[in-house]
Amino acid sequence: MRNFTPETLTEAVVARLSDCDNPRLKAVMTGLVRHLHAFVREVNLTEAEWFEGIQFLTATGQKCDADRQEFILLSDVLGVSMMVDALNHGTPSGATESTVLGPFYIPGAPELASDADIAHGSPGEPTAISGRVLDATGKPIAGAVLDVWQTATNGLYSIQDPEQDRYNLRGRFRTGGDGRYAFRTVKPVSYPVPTDGPVGRILDAMGRHPHRPAHIHFIVSAPGYETLTTHLFANGDPYLDSDVVFAVKNSLVVDFAPTGDGTGLAAAYDFRLAPSA
Ligand code: BEZ
Ligand code: FE
Repeated sequence: MRNFTPETLTEAVVARLSDCDNPRLKAVMTGLVRHLHAFVREVNLTEAEWFEGIQFLTATGQKCDADRQEFILLSDVLGVSMMVDALNHGTPSGATESTVLGPFYIPGAPELASDADIAHGSPGEPTAISGRVLDATGKPIAGAVLDVWQTATNGLYSIQDPEQDRYNLRGRFRTGGDGRYAFRTVKPVSYPVPTDGPVGRILDAMGRHPHRPAHIHFIVSAPGYETLTTHLFANGDPYLDSDVVFAVKNSLVVDFAPTGDGTGLAAAYDFRLAPSA
């Protein structure tokens, strides 16, 4: 077939998938082609705009390296990451709600003893975080691992900041027989996502601010349970209702309250894990 028109081209491209023997890939690519074509038609894309889009995606890839993931950031600010999260973890299961992973997780953080300080003397308000890891019925899970990471008070993760050690403000903690965990840190701050790349430029062009409300990241895992990727957000943060990556859920907002003995702040949270499917 030749002489395609806007009316015939989309189905002609979809038809070329007829020999694809992976049914899931076929379904995903069919949807992608149909939606991309519909988008191009809907906005009546000009050739100059199409090429600008190609240059934008090229720059996004070029900005990526071992420690910088501009494509995850792009997915996050466009709400795609939270859409995937909502579709995959949207059904109430009694488990703690999940939220975005973000681009700043690095595996291999040191396993630390309970109550260790992940801030290693970094400036900030001393803060104690503690709680339990439970199953969906409220039974403590022993041996669960909490992988935690956050920014320093300058708003930078260790891998963005040559002044910080690679694993500063990161650590892994294992629950005891009572499911308890505890660690010390500094109060997280709100911070802008990186704006020195193509994602920052498009946010600015769209008239959007780049800020995330203060939070600590957690990946909580235990054998026999679904791994949970989530945050704890600081109550009262001015960006809770306008998070640039749309990741805030009410159930994840906690009080960072003064301890009363002048030692700083404390926040408590019990995580609940769903059994593996
Ligand atoms: C983060 O919280 O580390 C993050 C999440 C999404 C985009 C940028 C940063
Ligand atoms: Fe973060």
